[in-house]
Amino acid sequence: MGFIFGWLSTEHYVRDIFLMTSVAAIVATLMSIRFYLRITAGRCFTETKMEGKTVIITGANSGIGKETAKDLAGRGARIIMACRNLETANAVKDEIVKETQNNKILVKKLDLGSQKSVREFAADIVKTEPKIDVLIHNAGMALAFRGQTSEDGVELTMATNHYGPFLLTHLLIDVLKKSAPARIVIVASELYRLSSVNLAKLNPIGTFPAAYLYYVSKFANIYFARELAKRLEGTKVTVNFLHPGMIDSGIWRNVPFPLNLPMMAITKGFFKTTKAGAQTTIYLATSDEVANVSGKYYMDCKEASLNAAALDEEKGLKIWEESVKIAKLTPQDPKI
Ligand SMILES: NC(=O)c1ccc[n+]([C@@H]2O[C@H](COP(=O)([O-])OP(=O)(O)OC[C@H]3O[C@@H](n4cnc5c(N)ncnc54)[C@H](OP(=O)(O)O)[C@@H]3O)[C@@H](O)[C@H]2O)c1
Ligand SMILES: *[C@@H]1O[C@H](CO)[C@@H](O)[C@H](O)[C@H]1NC(C)=O
Repeated sequence: MGFIFGWLSTEHYVRDIFLMTSVAAIVATLMSIRFYLRITAGRCFTETKMEGKTVIITGANSGIGKETAKDLAGRGARIIMACRNLETANAVKDEIVKETQNNKILVKKLDLGSQKSVREFAADIVKTEPKIDVLIHNAGMALAFRGQTSEDGVELTMATNHYGPFLLTHLLIDVLKKSAPARIVIVASELYRLSSVNLAKLNPIGTFPAAYLYYVSKFANIYFARELAKRLEGTKVTVNFLHPGMIDSGIWRNVPFPLNLPMMAITKGFFKTTKAGAQTTIYLATSDEVANVSGKYYMDCKEASLNAAALDEEKGLKIWEESVKIAKLTPQDPKI
């Protein structure tokens, strides 16, 4: 007893209580944020079956793309996994076949950072696929500090995230039109808001830190998607784009030590799973609700708004015209 009173009477008591309450408050706040993020993770309950549909998914060997492929395979779709790493892609393919009992899963080589690879992939598809119902531009990458340049002399993040998909869409557009109603789904990012696209530097080699170009490339995705939707009006090929949420995936892998440590705490503690991250893509690829919707931005399976810069159609048009040159489209290639 005397010992307890002794402890109570010291100022340690006040300090300890203060410390304990602070820690409890911080833990409670973090838990509530985590809980809030979990319950607001969009879930798409669309039951649409995809039997008889062919879907191309880029970057389907990991992260959000893998979960998208698994879900659509479960709905009976024929899936073309367009991946640069055939080894991991084939392993994921086996996993999907086993889990969904759907063996209409194909793996094809596609490196979006190489125009040659994009052209080879597209030529193969045009030759072998009579019909593409959904094209999902999911693949994406980010660098940390130092930039890289593609074999075509294009800044690598922009080449992979924007110019590659831009070129691929052109090369596949005739198949898509022929398959109409068809859909194009583009995985962009809300992080576009942290950047702006510099018209004078559309091939931004030498930008430091290179991570900034991830945001720029995602902004370019949005300009591309909106201008594409305009050009495809009346074709019954729709284009919608989305933010998957902040997701614990491989996209953060290039964050260097020691920044990767706090980053890992954040991604593991607060970001959503890749399965949750796939929901809006799945929604846009399958739901009847969006069968006739085009040119819109989605988040958590609901339409979302864009900032004023993203709505600048004149800028979107200029970026398109420059992209034709940087992606080295020729007069023999399909026009959109
Ligand atoms: N994670 C997020 O919080 C978040 C937020 C907003 C938007 N996004 C977007 O979501 C999409 C999917 O990313 P994720 O989060 O699932 O990341 P991830 O796990 O890193 O998956 C990215 C996929 O893209 C593929 N890829 C990268 N470069 C490629 C290339 N040159 N050619 C072909 N495929 C390539 C990767 O293949 P490898 O396995 O060969 O590298 C991988 O399959 C990206 O467009 C990303 O920008 C993600
Ligand atoms: C979409 O448009 C077609 C006609 O082009 C119509 O038959 C269909 O009911 C529409 N779907 C929705 C969900 O509005």
